[in-house]
Amino acid sequence: MSTFMCKDCGNVYNKWIGKCNCGSWNTVAEIKDPKLLFNNSLNNINEFNDDSPIITINNNIEEFLRVCPLITKSIIILGGEPGIGKSTLMSQICLQTTEKCLYLSGEESVENIKKRFYRLNHDVNNVEIFSFFLIEKLEEIVQKYQPVLVIIDSIHTTRSTTSEGHITQMKDVLFKTSILGKKYNFCCIMVSHITKDGIIAGPKTIEHMVDVVLYLEGDRYGNIRILRAIKNRFGNTNETGVFEMHENGLIEVKNPSALFISQRRTDVPGSVVFAGVGGSRPFMLEIQALVVESIYPQIECIGFEIKRLRMILAILQKWCNTFMYKHDIYINVVGGMKLDDPAADLAVAMAVISSFRKRLISAEVCFFGELGLTGEIRRVSDVQSRIKEAKRLGFKKIYSRFDGHNVDIKDEFICNMGLLVDLVNKL
Ligand code: TYD
Ligand code: MG
Repeated sequence: MSTFMCKDCGNVYNKWIGKCNCGSWNTVAEIKDPKLLFNNSLNNINEFNDDSPIITINNNIEEFLRVCPLITKSIIILGGEPGIGKSTLMSQICLQTTEKCLYLSGEESVENIKKRFYRLNHDVNNVEIFSFFLIEKLEEIVQKYQPVLVIIDSIHTTRSTTSEGHITQMKDVLFKTSILGKKYNFCCIMVSHITKDGIIAGPKTIEHMVDVVLYLEGDRYGNIRILRAIKNRFGNTNETGVFEMHENGLIEVKNPSALFISQRRTDVPGSVVFAGVGGSRPFMLEIQALVVESIYPQIECIGFEIKRLRMILAILQKWCNTFMYKHDIYINVVGGMKLDDPAADLAVAMAVISSFRKRLISAEVCFFGELGLTGEIRRVSDVQSRIKEAKRLGFKKIYSRFDGHNVDIKDEFICNMGLLVDLVNKL
C-alpha cells in the first residue's frame, strides 16, 4: 500500500486527497522513500538515551536569562519580525558566553556577521561563524568545535536533504538538531521569522517540538525591545526581558518602569499609569486613550486586546452612563508591551473616560484592577509588589480593590475602590 503525506503539515494519508486537513490544497503527495516518514516524526526522540549531564551555560545577559535559561541539550526558537534585532541579540548572547559558540547563518554573509560582531565587541575569540544552509553539515562542525551554544540564523534558510516541503523541512531540521544537541551536549537557538499577526511562519506544530519559544518584539522605529516566552518548559511564561537598541547593540534595561513612563504628558487628558506585573517583576506602564467623535465609529488597540476593550466600553456604558458609540476609540500601550493581564482593565477604563470627558488624571496616581460585568472593581494578584514599585517611582496614590488583601487600607497611599462608577465620578 502506498502512503501519502502533506508537504505543508506532515499529515499522513493512505490515499491521495486534494485538500489536506490542515487546509492546504494540492500539497498531499505520494511518499516513495519511507525514511521521509520517519524524519517527520519526533515520537522516538524521548527514547534517545544518554547520560551526559545537563549544564547551565555561563552567560550574563540577565534580561535574557530572566525569560529563558540557557541549558545544554535544549532547543529554543527565537521569533520576531525582520529588523527587530534577533541577529543582534544572538550575537550578543554569543559574545557574553565564555565558552565556545557557533553562529551559523544562511541570512547574511560571514563578512556582514563579523562586522556586526566587531561593532558589538572586538573580542570574538569564542565564536566561530559560518555560512550555513544544510542541516546535515551540523554534526561535522559540532564535532570539530565542541560548542556549548549553537545559533542557527535562521530556520527558514536551513535545508534538510531528506525531506521536501517547507514545513516538513523545518520539522526535519528541528529533529536533527535536537538529536545532535543531546548527543554533543549543546544548546541551540534557532531564529525564526514571524508573520505580521504574530504566528511563527509555519503551523504551531513546530512549537511543540522545542523547549522554549521566544518572541522579540517592540516598535521597530522606537528603540524599546521586549523579549517574552510563549512557551517555556523550564519556567513560567510571564517574565519579560527589556532592552533598548543603540548604535552598539541592545542594552539591558534593568529598571523598565522609569523608561516606560518617561515620555508621558501629564498636561493633557487620556494618559493613565497602570501598575503592572510581568512574572517576578513589577513595572509601571503608560496607557493612552484617544476618544474622538466620528461618522464611522471604530475602535483600535495597540498592545491591548480589542475584545477586552469592547467589554470595558460596555461596562462603562451600563454602569457609568457613558455613551461613546458615536466615537472612535484608540488605545495604545506605550513602549510596545502587549498586555494580557486583566488587571489593566481599570487603567484602560480610566484612560478612556479621561479622554472622553477631557479630564486630566493627576501625574501622581496610578491604577490596577480587573473590571467585573456588574461594574465592580475586582481584586488581582501581586498587590504588594505593585504598591512597592509605585511608591518607589514617586506616585502618591494607587487606586484598586484592596479589601481582602493583607494591606493597610489606612495607608494614605492606598485608595480602596469597590465600584467603577465611584471612581469615574471622582474625575
Ligand atoms: P538585526 O539584528 O539584523 O535584526 P533581525 O535579525 O531581527 O532582522 O537588527 C536590525 C536593526 O538593528 C538594523 O536596522 C540595525 C539595528 N542595529 C542597531 O541599531 N545597532 C546595532 O548595534 C546593531 C547591530 C543593529
Ligand atoms: Mg537577522
